[in-house]
Amino acid sequence: MTIVVFGSVVQDLISYTPRFPRPGESVCGTSFLAGPGGKGANQAVAAAKLGANVEIIARVGSDIFGEANIKSLNEANVGTKSVQKVEQCSTATATITVSEEGENSIVVVLGANEKMSAEVAKSCREQIGKATLLMCQNEVPQCGNRTALQMAREQNVTTFYNPAPGNSSLEKSILALVDIVCTNENEAEFLTDIKAETVESAFKAAEKMLEMGPHTAIVTLGPKGVILARKNEKTVHIPVLKVTAVDTTGAGDCFCGSLAYFLTKMKDLPVEEAVKRASIIAAHCVTRKGTQASYRSREELEQLDKSLF
Ligand code: RIB
Ligand code: NA
Repeated sequence: MTIVVFGSVVQDLISYTPRFPRPGESVCGTSFLAGPGGKGANQAVAAAKLGANVEIIARVGSDIFGEANIKSLNEANVGTKSVQKVEQCSTATATITVSEEGENSIVVVLGANEKMSAEVAKSCREQIGKATLLMCQNEVPQCGNRTALQMAREQNVTTFYNPAPGNSSLEKSILALVDIVCTNENEAEFLTDIKAETVESAFKAAEKMLEMGPHTAIVTLGPKGVILARKNEKTVHIPVLKVTAVDTTGAGDCFCGSLAYFLTKMKDLPVEEAVKRASIIAAHCVTRKGTQASYRSREELEQLDKSLF
């Protein structure tokens, strides 16, 4: 039982600052953190930290960031046999600013992730076929994702798609290849043209996504909770644990990876309960600085909350 992630690896460079600089302005930050990131790697690591068997298909550059990120994936127990270094290419970087409120703004340069082509997906057909769940996000080319999802479909592997970051040029027909779609309010709007800011409108957006292919659609609304819509079931709103945010970077990925763990490793758990537990785990990571660095291990989580596993 394996989760295969077809996705991005990014070197995160995070500056903490009292407030965001205005255009043309410099502000003095309070601290800096460099660490492994990227939506694909984050989701892989989040699932692996809970005890799932995870492999990632990814590309890094032939530079120190590439080396460092492969090393940290291995340390997190994520299988990297399909992570290749691309010559004369840089590892992706995300220059991140986090304000005192824990909000972030990110510039991501995709570098080697741009090489995640349809051919890369095709070359991993067998690996994808052995998975229980395939996970994709939006930090690699659409054609790569589409082919990976197709390979999974052809081999009866469940597909999980987190179309983040939101992108207006996304071809919505990709959802026909998706079983479980998980978005935030922005990404839901790109897909459905419904502003999913309130619980009521997020209900509508989630239900509209169900008409586009997936049997399960999830919309995360930060502190406002999570909407879970499923074919032939009543759509539900799941409130989340209230925490004081220090750094929300990668919280969405923590949610997706944790959810993937519960869906594949605790199959008898009702989906609503899986979503609730994943949201609790994601809430905990918001209270610590860093991306993957803020994800707690299973042992740490068990100490915080005995009812999680
Ligand atoms: O979702 C968070 C991630 O998005 C960060 O780790 C950063 O790499 C950005 O791409
Ligand atoms: Na965090």
